[in-house]
Amino acid sequence: MDKSVLVRVPASTANLGPGFDSLGVALNLYNDIYMELKGSRLVIDVEGEGILNIDRDEKNLIYKAAKKVFDKLNITVSGLYIKTTNNIPTGSGLGSSASAIIGGLVAANVLTGNPLSHDDILDMASLMEGHADNVAPALNGGFNVATFDGKRTYYIKKEVDDNIRFLAFYPDRELLTSKARGVLPSMIEFRNGVFNVGRASLLTASFFSGRYDLLKFASQDMLHQVYRKEFIPEMYYVIERALDNGAYASFLSGAGPTMMVLADISIADKVKESVKKVYEDRNIKCRIYELKCDNTGAKIL
Ligand code: HSE
Repeated sequence: MDKSVLVRVPASTANLGPGFDSLGVALNLYNDIYMELKGSRLVIDVEGEGILNIDRDEKNLIYKAAKKVFDKLNITVSGLYIKTTNNIPTGSGLGSSASAIIGGLVAANVLTGNPLSHDDILDMASLMEGHADNVAPALNGGFNVATFDGKRTYYIKKEVDDNIRFLAFYPDRELLTSKARGVLPSMIEFRNGVFNVGRASLLTASFFSGRYDLLKFASQDMLHQVYRKEFIPEMYYVIERALDNGAYASFLSGAGPTMMVLADISIADKVKESVKKVYEDRNIKCRIYELKCDNTGAKIL
């Protein structure tokens, strides 16, 4: 049995517009999670993103995930060392929590001799997160349709073309998912449900068939983005500018505040520059990540 392990987990973008809590894509931006059975207490080091706000005690999400594995197996761990080296900004809508959960579960599984299956890990992750749209791509890589019934996660993965760029515009302000979920209504109009069913189905078929040209229409949403606009006032300007400049799609990444723009590699620079102006014109500082899909998912280094 290994005493230590290093796991690399990708970022992810969820919802993709209409696929609320069910669609997500893994991205080539990573957190590295090192875990070692060592000493007689819990020690956590954080490097990179989240250095100021990530918990270093029992409230740490990587630790909580690892503990779920130890508890499930009735294993008592006397001392644990965790070091996380983060490139995924926290509270950004790029799946940093999902990467912590997957990293903690996968690492603890290796340290206990791999008793859990891939699907066991995904089910535990979905239960911790409450939905599977970030945790499934973080574990599997690629584009994922993933739905969770409270116990099991049902998913299908499809690789995404390497020529698609995922331009992430992160306006450098944290938005807690709980806050962004708090503004959502408890009831929706039937026609809005129908609107989203059509788009989410078409979007899924577009990814599976490589018909990225259909995403402009298929990424429209009436379930959540409109309510979250109060936290992301630039949202619809970004979408309009991106699509006017030939992007395949633009949508709120997860619960935000990052906006995601999908464009072919051949026009990615042009699209990036024109969308950047939307932020500059409004004096909104923003970081831009030019990403691709990670088609592999979490891996042990
Ligand atoms: N589907 C989730 C949401 C993603 O939009 O709230 C963030 O966890």
